[in-house]
Amino acid sequence: MIYLDNAATSFPKPKGMIEKMSDHQLAWCGNPGRAGHMLSRKTAEAVRSSRNILADFFDIDDPARIIFTKNATEALNLAILGTVKEGDHIITTSMEHNSVLRPLIASGAEYTIISCRQDGSLDPADVEKAIRKNTGLIVCTHASNVTGTIMPVHRLADICRKKGIRILVDASQSAGHLPLSADDFDMVAMPGHKGLLGPMGTGLLIVKEKKALQPLMYGGTGTLSKMLEPPVEFPESFEAGTVNAPGIIGLGHAAGWIMNRGIEQIYEYQMGLIRMFDEQLRNMPQVEVYGPSVYRSKVGITAFNVRGRSSEEVASLLNDEFGIAVRAGFHCAGIAHKTIGTWDTGAVRVSPGVFTTRSQMQYAADVIWRIAKTASGVRPSRYLPVHPRGCSFR
Ligand code: ALA
Repeated sequence: MIYLDNAATSFPKPKGMIEKMSDHQLAWCGNPGRAGHMLSRKTAEAVRSSRNILADFFDIDDPARIIFTKNATEALNLAILGTVKEGDHIITTSMEHNSVLRPLIASGAEYTIISCRQDGSLDPADVEKAIRKNTGLIVCTHASNVTGTIMPVHRLADICRKKGIRILVDASQSAGHLPLSADDFDMVAMPGHKGLLGPMGTGLLIVKEKKALQPLMYGGTGTLSKMLEPPVEFPESFEAGTVNAPGIIGLGHAAGWIMNRGIEQIYEYQMGLIRMFDEQLRNMPQVEVYGPSVYRSKVGITAFNVRGRSSEEVASLLNDEFGIAVRAGFHCAGIAHKTIGTWDTGAVRVSPGVFTTRSQMQYAADVIWRIAKTASGVRPSRYLPVHPRGCSFR
């Protein structure tokens, strides 16, 4: 199988990660912070070490400002519902994922959704114009999960600083792909299992200002057990219940792996793949490609459709006949599809990862060319693309 669905979750994972996680579960599993015995202490130390690696990764001085969650959705819910106050107005964009929009609507706050351009890009001036006296929060994705479009989050952060508004960045498609200093923003939410290459069941919320956030979940924290009120310390007060220690240990290992290779090098490598792929698709008359055509304006995601075929049909063909895994449809981001003009059709999304090879991308492009030719009624040549094996960057 050629795996081109890394925007949903990364696969494969860095060497040694699973071994480290299973070693913990098999040989030294204790509940971190819940006892003084050796296994509990050793697990707590391993969780602390992952938190330190991630603090380094995202350029923050205090690892306690990293809250581990089960995914980006939980981190976004915590950031939105844990900071919104009665009477607040929130601004967001028409390229957001439902994991931003649904908690925002559930918060009961007034909100404005700023329309982005058809390639998914956002004019920060439109956001500035929408600011009201009661605007308390701006939420924006760092990179769209549909088109990969990189959003001007640093420009928005400047606006927010001037106006005293908080900014929350959804780094679900940028963490591990683009350099990111978390302290450029008030809050940054992300999954651990996508670009960070960690296991499923992991996510993070990084907060700059500890005071602003209220927990959404209460329970045991391993500290101050005689008190009925929860502790106020970070990160314990936001990590009630037993944490996903093996997941966090795996995530720390994966983040270290990325740091050793260099995030800039990884970005360059992935851009090389996507550029080569996109250029071929844009030259296929039966194929429509969405999103920016300037490569530095996006991360490694390509959304497209083959005229005359539904996105689901193309994805099924890719899977069933050619062994290529992609995601079709609406990607949990309906209004992003409205923005790019695919509200009725959805789109096929190709998202290579750090382990994808050039020959795999070339094979995918050849196969799409073949599907497009067939859709247009032209019999493609008897030449069948050859399924490549192996992966790079390991
Ligand atoms: N949010 C993930 C995606 O875009 C699951 O596919």
